[in-house]
Amino acid sequence: MKVLVIGSGGREHAIVRKLAESPLVDEIICAPGNGGISSQAVCVNVKATDIENMKKLARDEEVDFCVVTPDDPLALGMVDELEAIGVPCFGPDREAARIEASKSFSKGLMSKYNIPTADYEIFSEADEALAYIKERNTYPIVLKADGLALGKGVLIIQNEEEAVKAVQQVMVDKTFGDAGNEVVIEEFMTGPEVSVLAFTDSNVICPMVSSMDHKRANDNDEGLNTGGMGTIAPSPFYTKEIADECMQKIFLPTMEAMKEEGRPFKGCLYFGLMLTPKGPRVVEYNCRFGDPETQVVLPLLKTDLFEIMQAVRYETLGDLDIEWEDGAAACVIEASGGYPGSYTKGYPIKGLDAEGQCEGVTVYHAGTKKENDTYYTNGGRVLGITATGKDLKEALHNAYEGVKTVSFENMHYRTDIGKKAGNV
Ligand code: AMP
Ligand code: GLY
Repeated sequence: MKVLVIGSGGREHAIVRKLAESPLVDEIICAPGNGGISSQAVCVNVKATDIENMKKLARDEEVDFCVVTPDDPLALGMVDELEAIGVPCFGPDREAARIEASKSFSKGLMSKYNIPTADYEIFSEADEALAYIKERNTYPIVLKADGLALGKGVLIIQNEEEAVKAVQQVMVDKTFGDAGNEVVIEEFMTGPEVSVLAFTDSNVICPMVSSMDHKRANDNDEGLNTGGMGTIAPSPFYTKEIADECMQKIFLPTMEAMKEEGRPFKGCLYFGLMLTPKGPRVVEYNCRFGDPETQVVLPLLKTDLFEIMQAVRYETLGDLDIEWEDGAAACVIEASGGYPGSYTKGYPIKGLDAEGQCEGVTVYHAGTKKENDTYYTNGGRVLGITATGKDLKEALHNAYEGVKTVSFENMHYRTDIGKKAGNV
């Protein structure tokens, strides 16, 4: 089988490496890919959102299957367009991708089907939004841009002054563009956050090993929000009892709700959960694999990923028994100094072999490019140094050993990945 993977981050590298292990996969093309992915796949420079050229690539290369990974091509209907020219895809169609593309849609879905989440109101007028926050007068309160905003459209408001600024920024100045035409204003929740990715063919839902992201740029959860500075799997907070409760109250009801709404979801459904004192609640849905959650989840997957992806596409997921390793995994992101603000690109990376790897760890490339056999930094998040171990402590130790040997100028990483999980 010839498989096309769309995307260019560490998440896509993890998917490509896992697919390369499958005896069913003969060749992988990745568009646009990156320096590290080019060791396992032929990288073709077509933008992930360029539907017409992606269709041309799929046709010219006669690909047998396509994995659409990032949120924006999914929201644009990349799966609908490729399926229409006869390319079977892993990933939700445009109607189903709305679960991530519109927060007002996803909040409405949860409300209609009694899926536990923060209480909320939706506004499309700035003065009404502000009046509501003032009247409620309970802080912190959370304001979310309705649309896709590169993970930055969530503002936690501490007082009235910040409320004025936040509403102005999102709804009037349109910092996140049209994503801010509507906003969700919701109750602030507390508790450990857990990410659960799940394979679903719209009839059956199979949660993967749980994981924990670290979104802030600096140690002790300080600094700006980023795409994610590191992950661990599984999350020690996500017990068997909580998992059972989530299956009954959140996962199955969400799958059924999407079907009921005429938007059956097929692909990877990501549940961003908060384990609040009142029980698990949904913080957000994503219509895709998380980044960098995928980098710690897939190394623990024993079953053939390509077989699972086909089962999702052909709605035979119920026939598969998906198996996981018992151990743990940890991923530490090496980022360009300055990220998520401005940073310099183009530094050579030291400590990588010809394949872009380093002994003892798996190096997932995010923002890298390869020129004359040297890897250079080419983005904010550059590498995800990932290791497995018999337990979390060992996995973290191994990952940080890798961090010592792979480096570049102005590198920044968090030294406390996994600490919140305790005992490490
Ligand atoms: P999101 O993009 O919706 O995942 O939000 C980004 C981050 O904001 C989450 O990972 C949480 O840490 C935080 N957040 C979002 N919604 C809430 C909420 N209702 N209460 C507390 N924190 C929240
Ligand atoms: N790591 C969070 C996300 O992928 O949205």
